[in-house]
Amino acid sequence: MTTPPYDFATGNTNPETFPAEDFAAAAAAAIPELTVELNRYPGKLGHARMRRLMAEREHDREGVRIDPDHIVLTNGSMQAITLVAETLCADIDAGGDKCVVMEAHNYVGTIRAFDAMGIEMVGVAQDAQGMRTDDLAEVMDRLAAEGRRPRFIYTLATYQNPTGAMMPRDRRQALVEIAAKHDCVVVEDNCYGDVHFEGEKPPALYALDPGPRQIYICSLSKIFAPGVRLGYLTAAPEMLERILAFRNDAGPNTLAAALTAAYLDGRLWQHVEMANAALKTKRDAMLAALESELGNLCSWSRPVGGLFIWLRLPDDVSVPALQTAAEARGVTFADGANFHIHGQAGPYIRLAFGFPPVDAIRDGIAELGAAIRDIRGA
Ligand SMILES: Cc1ncc(COP(=O)(O)O)c(C=O)c1O
Repeated sequence: MTTPPYDFATGNTNPETFPAEDFAAAAAAAIPELTVELNRYPGKLGHARMRRLMAEREHDREGVRIDPDHIVLTNGSMQAITLVAETLCADIDAGGDKCVVMEAHNYVGTIRAFDAMGIEMVGVAQDAQGMRTDDLAEVMDRLAAEGRRPRFIYTLATYQNPTGAMMPRDRRQALVEIAAKHDCVVVEDNCYGDVHFEGEKPPALYALDPGPRQIYICSLSKIFAPGVRLGYLTAAPEMLERILAFRNDAGPNTLAAALTAAYLDGRLWQHVEMANAALKTKRDAMLAALESELGNLCSWSRPVGGLFIWLRLPDDVSVPALQTAAEARGVTFADGANFHIHGQAGPYIRLAFGFPPVDAIRDGIAELGAAIRDIRGA
């Protein structure tokens, strides 16, 4: 399959800022040190230097100290999501329904994984500030009144995928309190953590509630490269033990972790700053192109981080019709319905701006605008 010239469909990162030379130099220096380690199975937690580095990352951002031995490296954060869901929805833990409460528009990978596990997904309304905690309170009260107990609340509080929303501090506090009222575990998926362009960064939920109810998942995919398949999770020791009982893959990839740690150690924030500056330029290019091409036709999000713009189409332009018209012009995007927990169709599409060069963003959005105008006969 050939890649379309204007690929706005996938949450890939920016190849232009991948530090090929520095990474190669760090890798060349690290490999001779790994002779013994690479000849052993990694164990359930994974490479120690990378866990230390991720504990420092969390401490620098959240001001909370995490013991590196409470960090579990995973094969991307997706493995962390499935491990946590398997643990909390295991039939032996039959304290309640196999249901999870989450933003109604959510990450497609999670939706597919939960579906495959037979998890019932209960949606919470969201707006430009993320999950609406007034609706969360109602959903949790309703479930409780029905005698039902969700296994966990799953939230993308920061740079939500697909909407790009950033949940403000007061909502985060409200979420933590609602979870406490119902004694419900919270799983925060911070996959885009640190892909930040401007404005305040509210604290992670675990920084607001250091108790045993929080499970936190993060990734290196979006600040470094998804191809290294590195993610991690952290939780209180008792919960970690439960989760690790479900890990049967002999541990995470030592080579990927060791080489990535060798590159990032001592320059993590410098790398993040460099990568974010380029991504911000791409976001701004997409926002400017949307404004000039579609300013009077569509509305869209203005994300302060992450890789996506969430766009609402005019009522007379259907997503399938636009997909056909746009593909003929070399443009692909993601159908918003794929991100709805029940596949509900709507007037939304998601545009990813991380991978294509700035010129392709400008030209591709012009083509998208032309496709929309063609459909409307304007
Ligand atoms: C919200 C969210 N969580 C998790 C993932 C999985 O990422 P990875 O497994 O590459 O860390 C993604 C990928 O796009 C995502 O958007």
